[in-house]
Amino acid sequence: MPGSADRRMAEDRSPAGMIVASGVHRSFGALTAVSDVSFRLPAGRIVGLVGSDGAGKTTLLRMLATMLVPSSGTIRVGGLDVVRERSGVKGMIGYMPQRFGLYQDLTVAENLDFFMDIYGITGAERRRRRERYLGFSNLLAFTDRRAGDLSGGMKQKLGLACVLVHEPRVLILDEPTNGVDPVSRQEFWQILAEMKQSGMTILVSTAYLDEGERCDRLLLMHNARILADAAPAEVRAEFASLEEAMIQRIRAVDAALTEDAFGR
Ligand SMILES: Nc1ncnc2c1ncn2[C@@H]1O[C@H](COP(=O)(O)OP(=O)(O)OP(=O)(O)O)[C@@H](O)[C@H]1O
Ligand SMILES: [Mg+2]
Repeated sequence: MPGSADRRMAEDRSPAGMIVASGVHRSFGALTAVSDVSFRLPAGRIVGLVGSDGAGKTTLLRMLATMLVPSSGTIRVGGLDVVRERSGVKGMIGYMPQRFGLYQDLTVAENLDFFMDIYGITGAERRRRRERYLGFSNLLAFTDRRAGDLSGGMKQKLGLACVLVHEPRVLILDEPTNGVDPVSRQEFWQILAEMKQSGMTILVSTAYLDEGERCDRLLLMHNARILADAAPAEVRAEFASLEEAMIQRIRAVDAALTEDAFGR
């Protein structure tokens, strides 16, 4: 039986890719939130989605997570179409939205139990996963604390634990560390690194460019489009930092748009 590394390599070589977007477009009335987005993400990698506010990151992630239907174009996850084979895709992914809904009046353990009930995880497996994911998140000492009484960083780690309990092949996280302190952010990324080792494919949006540096690959989004799709070092290129590279790339696109608008 092949190990997870062999499986990962096999999936990498497959022309299909784990997440494949082709010509994806989504509008809300007259507003275009995602325009002509195409990419192919291999399995077993951490891909960062970075970009300006309102760039369309959440809209794109919601389409990948089957929460929103594209206006046009197609998205396949693990070979399945997110619209026509929605339930198959849902079974494969874990999705943590930008505002993840924990039950504030339930304890840490009860929140996790709620998610395990949804996925029908029982018996010894349920105990194993509770230990593993609350342990990962450093939450084992806080199992009886109300979620509403956790710190912001602990809430995010509990949210991640709740998404991980069904051990999805693909993890989609929308700014999971927003407002979280550097120590908790580091712990959070250690969990992601361990998940990657087990072969999971992770797509994570972030406003923190030190986190962007930890990714195998970055998608840079601005104004509904993907401006760059490359390894962090390539995106950084000749610039002093990833931040500077992003600002300059975004400025260059905006300047070109302004010139077009004024016919210069
Ligand atoms: N349900 C909706 N109805 C109407 N407009 C929407 C809807 N969802 C998003 N938009 C608009 O689409 C654009 C992209 O929004 P989106 O939330 O995807 O951006 P984002 O990159 O996630 O931004 P942020 O970094 O602030 O989270 C914005 O102009 C937003 O106002
Ligand atoms: Mg967003």
